[in-house]
Amino acid sequence: MSNLEMSTKHLLGIKYITQNDINLIFNTAENFKEIINRPIKKVPSLRDITIANLFFENSTRTKISFELAEKRLSADVVNFSASGSSVKKGETLLDTVNNILSMKVDMVVMRHPAPGAHFFLSNHVDVNIINAGDGTHEHPTQALLDAFSMREKIGDLKGKKIVIVGDILHSRVALSNIFCLKKLGAHVKVCGPPTLIPKHISALGVEIEYDIEKALAWCDVANVLRIQLERQNTKYIPSLREYSLHYGVKKKMLDRLDHEIVIMHPGPINRGIELDSDVADSEHSIILDQVENGVAVRMAVLYLLAGKRNLAKS
Ligand code: CP
Repeated sequence: MSNLEMSTKHLLGIKYITQNDINLIFNTAENFKEIINRPIKKVPSLRDITIANLFFENSTRTKISFELAEKRLSADVVNFSASGSSVKKGETLLDTVNNILSMKVDMVVMRHPAPGAHFFLSNHVDVNIINAGDGTHEHPTQALLDAFSMREKIGDLKGKKIVIVGDILHSRVALSNIFCLKKLGAHVKVCGPPTLIPKHISALGVEIEYDIEKALAWCDVANVLRIQLERQNTKYIPSLREYSLHYGVKKKMLDRLDHEIVIMHPGPINRGIELDSDVADSEHSIILDQVENGVAVRMAVLYLLAGKRNLAKS
């Protein structure tokens, strides 16, 4: 297989793509980033291709970013949100998707609360599936845009030290980041309260640090995550106030460091809980660069997978 082709027809998770796929996405995204900074931001690459964005869970960044990426590539776009749809009348996922596909849709971008929903779909329908987040499992395009943004800021990630801070247990961003960063040769630590660190996470080749100040002193980049209260049926931390006290990233912590550090966050930020405003808005932060890069990275994913449209399932 050529190095200019993705190894898969779908993007179900970072776990299932290769290092070559990731580098191919990055190289393609660099070209698209240059294009979308021109006065005329649109290219005809996906003209006559129809993409359905199916969001069964809330989103601001990912939904808008995919839609803009599709429109910049000249695709036809349809948007579906579970709220206000016939899902509320009991329609199954497969019935919903098959009905939408019968209107001649070529590719599906989907966010769904059930881990593995995309695998299920990919075994039942014959279009490209792109995972825009599946429950607590993976959020592959977020990890790609995170790594792309890190690379842009600090260069080749091989040997670089990255810490992922916060609610690792419930975070699809954490898992996709770990897979992506390890494939690119970075050293990865996770940091958070013991109750929010999965028991067997070291099997993924990451180290655990429970002390936020030690984690910040070690790393080149801190990717700070949100506490996902909506996915927590039991109490994992005594209170948000205590979480913030022990794990919130504060300006005074950065001022004490003897080296440069990059602060990232996938959004949405809970200001004053995992990240203080004077950190989120500081010169250390590349949070809005992440959002900007998301469009170019998603354009690259859509463009490369569209090239695999007529191939057998892989
Ligand atoms: N980062 C991210 O997935 O944000 P949204 O939930 O707003 O899409």
